[in-house]
Amino acid sequence: MTTMNAAVVTTFDEPPHYQQFEVPRPRTEHELLVDVLAVGLHPRVRSGARGAHYTSTGALPMIPGVDGVGRRADGRRIYFLADDDAPGTMADQALADTRRSIELPDAVDAAKVAAAMNPAMSSWVALRRRVPLQPGQSVLVLGATGNAGTMAVQVAKRLGAGRVIGAGRDPERLNALPALGADAVVQLTDDADATAHALATAAAEVDVVIDYLWGAPAQQAIPALLKARQDRSRPLDWIQIGAITGPTIELPSAALRSANLRLQGSGQGSVSPAGYRAELPSLIDEIAAGTIAVTPDPVPLRDVERVWTEPDVPGQRIVLIP
Ligand SMILES: NC(=O)c1ccc[n+]([C@@H]2O[C@H](COP(=O)([O-])OP(=O)(O)OC[C@H]3O[C@@H](n4cnc5c(N)ncnc54)[C@H](OP(=O)(O)O)[C@@H]3O)[C@@H](O)[C@H]2O)c1
Repeated sequence: MTTMNAAVVTTFDEPPHYQQFEVPRPRTEHELLVDVLAVGLHPRVRSGARGAHYTSTGALPMIPGVDGVGRRADGRRIYFLADDDAPGTMADQALADTRRSIELPDAVDAAKVAAAMNPAMSSWVALRRRVPLQPGQSVLVLGATGNAGTMAVQVAKRLGAGRVIGAGRDPERLNALPALGADAVVQLTDDADATAHALATAAAEVDVVIDYLWGAPAQQAIPALLKARQDRSRPLDWIQIGAITGPTIELPSAALRSANLRLQGSGQGSVSPAGYRAELPSLIDEIAAGTIAVTPDPVPLRDVERVWTEPDVPGQRIVLIP
């Protein structure tokens, strides 16, 4: 048996350990074994490694990592998405499906691509595949202070939004958003009434909401925005993307009858693998061109256990380097 170094989850209540693991073998004509160059430690990866993501099967041991940058045997670098049923990418080597990978331009930095693709793809795919954004439409990003939310502000502008409002918790990160394209910001605080009022004042007339929070903030924001809309029959497209503040909400039926609220999500399942694949080239181009700001925090893969439990530095994404 040939082995490699990998981050290995052996039980869902412990972080992965850096240990030896069998090198995976390509299973189909579409799979290649690649040398892994950089892998982002995204929230999605942490939830998968806890067995808590909606795609989790409960099978152990597992290698975490849902995407990465790798080098093919011919020397070319690719960005690739791991298949759900393949070992993950946090290892010296991983399986790349040629149908879910794309060659990288020479100039683009591997760590930047590994850091940016997952958070940036969330809004890029949502605004191109789920609710194609029309030029000039206005967008509220609920949860705009995280990596994905901050990128969503930039993505919305890049895709032609007329007005973008960022709503988030951390005041410092919130105040950095206008320089990245936000036209207005709203601070989310523990004062639910004041927050609802501020959201209604700034964002009642938006066309699209990109929601990374769900839970209490979304539950309070939906009626606040709908009640303040001048024309309630005008569509409000609410795209559910993350559940940072809770997996469920209570939604009064009247919210759906009294306004034209169109609620949908964007993620693995609601967008097909082919749909994601089709969006990779254009998003890589944006990252290579620097239109989406990204700050990778490169860490050797051997330190995976240590960084797994440390709090993230806001605005940075840990990237593991085998
Ligand atoms: N569906 C998809 O396609 C897709 C793709 C990528 C990511 N996601 C999901 O999107 C979410 C965000 O991902 P990410 O990469 O941006 O993660 P991240 O960089 O870790 O950001 C998480 C942010 O959540 C904010 N937050 C935490 N508690 C909060 C609260 N009570 N109220 C308001 N904000 C709060 C924090 O903001 P503060 O700094 O203000 O505290 C933090 O910056 C995750 O749930 C992830 O799984 C979904």
